[in-house]
Amino acid sequence: MADALENLSTEVRRFAPDPEFAAQANARPEGYAWAKADPQGFWAEQARELLTWSTPFEEVLDWSGAPVARWFADGTINAAYNAVDRHVEAGHGDRVAIYFEGEPGDTRTLTYADLQREVSKAANALVALGVGTGDRVAVYMPLIPEAVIAMLACARIGAPHSVVFGGFSAEALHSRILDAEAKLVITSDGGYRRGSASALKPAVDEALAKGAPTVDHVLVVRRTGQDVEWTEGRDVWWHDALEAASDQHEPVALEAEHPLFILYTSGTTGKPKGILHTTGGYLTQAAYTHLNVFDLKPETDVYWCTADIGWITGHTYVVYAPLINGATQVIYEGTPDTPHRGRWWEIVAKYKVSILYTAPTAIRTCMKWGDDIPGAHDLSSLRVLGSVGEPINPEAWVWYRHVIGGDRTPVVDTWWQTETGAIMISPLPGVTTAKPGSAQVPLPGIAADVVDDDAKPVPNGGGGYLVLTEPWPSMLRGIWGDMERYQDTYWSRFKGLYFAGDGAKKDDDGDIWLLGRVDDVMNVSGHRLSTTEIESALVSHPSVAEAAVVGANDETTGQAVVAFVILRQDAVSDRPAEEIATELRNHVAKEIGPIAKPRTILVVAELPKTRSGKIMRRLLRDIAEHRTVGDATTLADSSVMDLISAGLAAPATSKASPAEPTSATD
Ligand code: PRX
Repeated sequence: MADALENLSTEVRRFAPDPEFAAQANARPEGYAWAKADPQGFWAEQARELLTWSTPFEEVLDWSGAPVARWFADGTINAAYNAVDRHVEAGHGDRVAIYFEGEPGDTRTLTYADLQREVSKAANALVALGVGTGDRVAVYMPLIPEAVIAMLACARIGAPHSVVFGGFSAEALHSRILDAEAKLVITSDGGYRRGSASALKPAVDEALAKGAPTVDHVLVVRRTGQDVEWTEGRDVWWHDALEAASDQHEPVALEAEHPLFILYTSGTTGKPKGILHTTGGYLTQAAYTHLNVFDLKPETDVYWCTADIGWITGHTYVVYAPLINGATQVIYEGTPDTPHRGRWWEIVAKYKVSILYTAPTAIRTCMKWGDDIPGAHDLSSLRVLGSVGEPINPEAWVWYRHVIGGDRTPVVDTWWQTETGAIMISPLPGVTTAKPGSAQVPLPGIAADVVDDDAKPVPNGGGGYLVLTEPWPSMLRGIWGDMERYQDTYWSRFKGLYFAGDGAKKDDDGDIWLLGRVDDVMNVSGHRLSTTEIESALVSHPSVAEAAVVGANDETTGQAVVAFVILRQDAVSDRPAEEIATELRNHVAKEIGPIAKPRTILVVAELPKTRSGKIMRRLLRDIAEHRTVGDATTLADSSVMDLISAGLAAPATSKASPAEPTSATD
């Protein structure tokens, strides 16, 4: 990605705020100076203004246990109360919280009063199943209202949820259940995807059959009505459990630092990391950023974030922030092209969506499908557009503003991570003059910089590594069960600075341009995948002796997974490479999930290694991106690259069909 984005900062188009928009904007230019002068005072004020505390806090930040922060630690609060009950108490019970659009076209509307009843019943059902404060609950569901209700029910009783993306395999689910020692799994019989019902419950059965001693029950939502295997005594229907439960439930007042959730994300080593988020600081930054970056007006806006709840974007900007802020939002179960490529725009027109938040990969896919498709729908309700997940190329940014936003809407390119919990770097609509392709400036109260190898800030015009230089409220509090890895991964590269893993440049104005990951993490359709994790999956196949994986530039998905494999002697025999490649792709889907399937598998005889045995991925990336192979002098055996190139020209090469365009909901 970095190569493709090298020239980003030569982009010269500028989009100044529209004065009419600026006059009504939530964000104010003074916010920067105020927060800079007194960051803790700034965040304390946001926490008091935007949240309702069960016990008010006095302490703001305790950084004495760095790198583990404690924010608002002497206060108590309940996330579900803030997301639901207080809006009902304030007289907004009839306001729509969720417009649900199922992929087959079924719809449901839930008001805040409906949510309060459902979340209370679900919380009582969890308690009846033996789940207590502090117990972990795994959630493996499609994007249906029950998924949001399940997460809020967990938050209501203080049981941290661990949502596992419904596209992940039984194997991936199993390892996450084990790592978090979940007591309960909430799932559904299935969901609708690309025009048909797909199953989820069998993956839960398979995961639990591998052994999961901590799981007592599985709570199953009926979504599709398909037949499911049933384990008596363990499995419980969601509708039965909720029917039996009271709709009155007192939210538990929890310490601000009580764990709200664990969310697994790929790192540079094989095992996914359980990123731990707590309550008070997370909710503060979620609410503040949502109000200011999207200019949310809860009484009039209809907000739609297309992310799935399996990712951090779905946690913060589908579940917590919009509901904390009392917004009306759309959630959509399916893909953008089911049953036709205008589905998203149909939804925007139908619900008069005014704020849309999605990923560059989806924008590029829609761009490829042509302007006529969005052009056939009334998109005049849109007034703010957001982008997240990967660098957005200026052409896609300008297309988004022009074709989707009718040249009216501000576009906010928001940089953040699972670890940061909420948006960190982004223009503010109505305040910032936007530069297509740049996330630009840290938000008020956030301190970021670009540093060189020696941790020295680079001057304007220079490039280096993105770091965060001060603690922020929604920062991760660690890696579940592995605090040493937390320290090593984020805090050891540059002393006292949080290392984000991204390369970045500062332009002449000091604005930040993200250049993609600098570690062994790939970004495919805005989703994080680890090269090592996919290599481990490939090597676990009996035919594979060795594997090396790289992320290669891809026009639609940003990066694509390209794997180089050495087959075992006995597997080489007479099977066509095409057949082996298909088998390996399916194997990766089974081990991790379909999103991790390599786009291309190249069967090679050797891999380029240094004398110390390290695979030189740089050279493999050259091949994957069809470039002349770079400097190979540090290789232990310099003839290896010739061997690979010669081998690839021969029929042993196998290129699987390109990955289908995925959406931000994938
Ligand atoms: O490389 C950056 C990229 O996505 C990574 C974080 O991935 P994840 O934890 O899955 O969270 C994605 C959604 C918040 C970052 O390290 N990234 C995210 N947003 C942007 C971005 N890269 C450039 N520009 C962005 N706006």
